[in-house]
Amino acid sequence: MKLSVLKEIDKFETRVATTPESVRTLKKLGFEVYIEKNAGLRSGYLNKDFENVGANITDRNKCLESVEVCLVVQLPPINDLKKFNHNTTLIGSINPYKNKDLLVSLKEYKITSIAMELIPRISRAQSMDVLSSQANLAGYRSVIDASYEFNKAFPMMMTAAGRINPAKVMVLGAGVAGLQAIATAKRLGAVVSATDVRPAVKEQVESLGAKFIMVDDDEAKNAETSSGYAKEMSNKFKEKQSKLIAETLKKQDIVICTALIPGRSAPTLVTEEMVMSMKPGSIIVDLAVETGGNCPLSKIDEVVNHNNIRIIGYSNMQGRVAKDASSLYAKNLTSFLPLIVDIENKKIKFDWQDEIINAVVITHNGKVILEGFK
Ligand code: NAI
Repeated sequence: MKLSVLKEIDKFETRVATTPESVRTLKKLGFEVYIEKNAGLRSGYLNKDFENVGANITDRNKCLESVEVCLVVQLPPINDLKKFNHNTTLIGSINPYKNKDLLVSLKEYKITSIAMELIPRISRAQSMDVLSSQANLAGYRSVIDASYEFNKAFPMMMTAAGRINPAKVMVLGAGVAGLQAIATAKRLGAVVSATDVRPAVKEQVESLGAKFIMVDDDEAKNAETSSGYAKEMSNKFKEKQSKLIAETLKKQDIVICTALIPGRSAPTLVTEEMVMSMKPGSIIVDLAVETGGNCPLSKIDEVVNHNNIRIIGYSNMQGRVAKDASSLYAKNLTSFLPLIVDIENKKIKFDWQDEIINAVVITHNGKVILEGFK
């Protein structure tokens, strides 16, 4: 069985879908591994590192033609999709919500496409959960980037020349990224608070030493879906939440926005008026920028200066720690692959009774098979 790994072509994509360590696992699964030349360079993995563990370095066309499985971070463009053999299995962050148009091509070229970000959040699949592995690093890096742009220190310092007060950091949305942002800001010595619509996260926020604030009403008690995600809230709730955030933001130095609702636009939490009420020099990091942003002033892949408030809108925050992000992503993929590899018979197989397989395969045998995208 031939498996290839493509070099990512997006300007801001610094990650790669495998690492030398993961190549060893791929080989144990029975794959001959082909890696596009320089695929790992931007994340710090050299061609010779891959060759040393038995991978073949080759050109893009060889990685597209006659392979059974192809691993990517982002969905390749249509010109690449055309070159795959029928029934090639393409595994990556396919992003079916954003790439609806390309689903037609995946179907037309009879590619079996697997969207890793749709891995269900069940215990058995934890090691395959790319959303968590990447959001965790994005949450960490958001605080590091905020500290870089901030013109003050994070920790309290008592010096002979006077006292420096600790930075005040507020985290909006306390999921995977938000919790790591809280932990990172705490480690740097900031005074941290956080909010969410799901009351279940209160304990997690407090266990990290941050203050939890939220609109505590009947609607919030049902703000969580059965899969653990947030629901879209009513206008009445949004008004109450907006007042609470507006009051709190005035006193903050740094705001880390991580609030997302799967398959929908991100909720607007920090309005222009709120931004204008913040102290000059304050920093906003909008991790939700790709799905519309929690702050309407954030711009994708830019640092906007609005009235001396800097708003960071990097779309690929995890890509700013590319080596670790690639390593965890690659491990997520090698944890998933045994589900579709028949090692004994050296072939790819799909167990349609498996809830993980049913949740992640978008196109197969010339059809879009995933509910919601048909
Ligand atoms: P996410 O990326 O979809 O959203 C980030 C956070 O924003 C969430 O905490 C969400 O409640 C919050 N949010 C959404 N709308 C908001 C609003 N209007 N105002 C304030 N906050 C808002 O969520 P993520 O990080 O993917 O986590 C979702 C859940 O999944 C969490 O409960 C997490 O603990 C759970 N999880 C479970 C795993 C498992 O294997 N069992 C693995 C990873 C996460």
